Amino acid sequence: MEVRGQQIRKEYYRSGTGSNIFTAVEECDFLVPSGKLTVIHGRSGSGKSTILNMLAGILKPTGGSVFYDDTDLYSMRDEELARFRNLHIGYVPQGRSAVPSLNVLENVALPYALYEEDGEEAAAEMMERFGIADLSEVMPDRLSGGELRRMAIARALVRRPEVIFADEPTGDLDDENTVAVFGALRELAAAGAAVLVVTHEEDAFEYADHIYAMNAGKLE
Ligand SMILES: Nc1ncnc2c1ncn2[C@@H]1O[C@H](COP(=O)(O)OP(=O)(O)O)[C@@H](O)[C@H]1O
Ligand SMILES: [Mg+2]
Repeated sequence: MEVRGQQIRKEYYRSGTGSNIFTAVEECDFLVPSGKLTVIHGRSGSGKSTILNMLAGILKPTGGSVFYDDTDLYSMRDEELARFRNLHIGYVPQGRSAVPSLNVLENVALPYALYEEDGEEAAAEMMERFGIADLSEVMPDRLSGGELRRMAIARALVRRPEVIFADEPTGDLDDENTVAVFGALRELAAAGAAVLVVTHEEDAFEYADHIYAMNAGKLE
């Protein structure tokens, strides 16, 4: 499945900026091809999370459309979009995303549990891969930043999604875990997934098939 942003842009209302309209992402076309790992690199505030969230179905663009093959993402009803995202998209958000009342295993298996499916085996396998298998029963408030991050990545990948979005996925990881994360993303790309990573660091470059630069809302 490939993801195509067509003439997408995002404007925010912001008082005190002349017209009170702040353009976070200028109009652009963007393709996340299947079977590739695509990287958008740019400084903090350049609009990376905004474009990623528009492509991931989380943030409706001010203008333009997002297509997954022939499916127009934002023409779906909320419930339909939620189900579509759960089935096809793996999303690693920037920052914290643990459900505090669930243990690590339950957090990782959540994409299954939401639809009353059994995801324990798949979750255990992913946790093994990211070195958090021992933490199954531990609650998130006991985890380090790096462990929380690996848990979020395991959850995003647990359904082996066809499309993967990762927002600064290795920000708080050491070298070993950074390699594990990009290794897993590369493997999914090799299996045909469309993968987009946005980051202000350069550690993703050596794993990328395509690298774009984002600068003050402009994609280059
Ligand atoms: N909800 C919002 N309302 C107003 N401005 C926002 C909002 N979200 C983000 N912005 C602004 O849009 C710009 C781009 O933000 P973001 O996409 O998060 O950048 P990045 O991920 O590259 O750090 C920033 O200047 C940010 O302050
Ligand atoms: Mg961001």
